[in-house]
Amino acid sequence: MKPIVVTGGTGSLGRRVVRELLDAGREVVVLSRRARPVADGSRFVSVDLRTGDGLDQALTGVDTVVHCASTLTGGDEQAARTLIDAAKRAGVTHLVYISIVGIDRIPLPYYRTKLAVERQLEASGLGYTILRATQFHELVQHIFSLLGRSPIVPVPTMRFQPVDTRDVAGRLAELALGEPAGRVPDFGGPEVRDAKSLARAYLTATGRRRLLVPVRVPGRIMAGFRRGENLVGDRFDGEWTFEQFLAEHATRRPSRFTDAGGSGG
Ligand SMILES: NC(=O)c1ccc[n+]([C@@H]2O[C@H](COP(=O)([O-])OP(=O)(O)OC[C@H]3O[C@@H](n4cnc5c(N)ncnc54)[C@H](OP(=O)(O)O)[C@@H]3O)[C@@H](O)[C@H]2O)c1
Repeated sequence: MKPIVVTGGTGSLGRRVVRELLDAGREVVVLSRRARPVADGSRFVSVDLRTGDGLDQALTGVDTVVHCASTLTGGDEQAARTLIDAAKRAGVTHLVYISIVGIDRIPLPYYRTKLAVERQLEASGLGYTILRATQFHELVQHIFSLLGRSPIVPVPTMRFQPVDTRDVAGRLAELALGEPAGRVPDFGGPEVRDAKSLARAYLTATGRRRLLVPVRVPGRIMAGFRRGENLVGDRFDGEWTFEQFLAEHATRRPSRFTDAGGSGG
């Protein structure tokens, strides 16, 4: 069997995809700019997808690539162009891409980039599979860790359907081991929750006491989130809840701030 390359294989999602594929008995190559082994048995190669130096070599003898590499600082479209061109030269038959639910309905600049990459794949002539997922638990935790630095926490009036990277990785690996399937049904977490209830869960898990203040953030981007365009809504695929994630990942800290006793709620 040929090895599978996981771009972004050192990231939150990518490292779990690597493990899933190794568990399925496949040889896996982790690719990122500063690659390193993320699991016993994985090989690794350092490539910056924006330049593609070393990419042809990394894709030699590979027929499937799971593309998880991404950065908020720009360059994803160039990276996808480079990857697609190299994949064609190497005879890759299946490129699996992880995208985000609602990218065509929420005008966030990063989402426009994700949509442009989806379009590149669709036009590439390569066999491809695109899975859109909802927000990862890591991202939701990160948002509240930033907001939670202040004694008064502004909480946007919106909902999330947070999903665990373990669940998404399992689905991505399953797709990577199958045939190219085009755009497949969106993948969401087990619950739709308003941001305030997730903020409370985060504060409880980290032992913080804060005043939660709902805020209606103006603008078209937040209007899209308020409409629920980031939710799958009618499908609840993931199994791990935000509380289960926090139980493993959150660090409890004593707080010097006064409890607001759930006001804001
Ligand atoms: N976070 C969410 O809530 C969410 C939800 C749905 C879908 N997604 C999508 O899931 C994917 C993975 O997200 P994540 O949160 O796991 O990301 P992450 O933890 O930030 O990991 C990003 C990975 O990409 C690599 N990378 C970045 N730029 C690169 C480049 N130019 N060349 C090669 N490797 C590069 C990074 O490693 P180096 O720094 O070593 O290069 C890292 O391994 C992204 O496509 C994201 O859009 C995320």
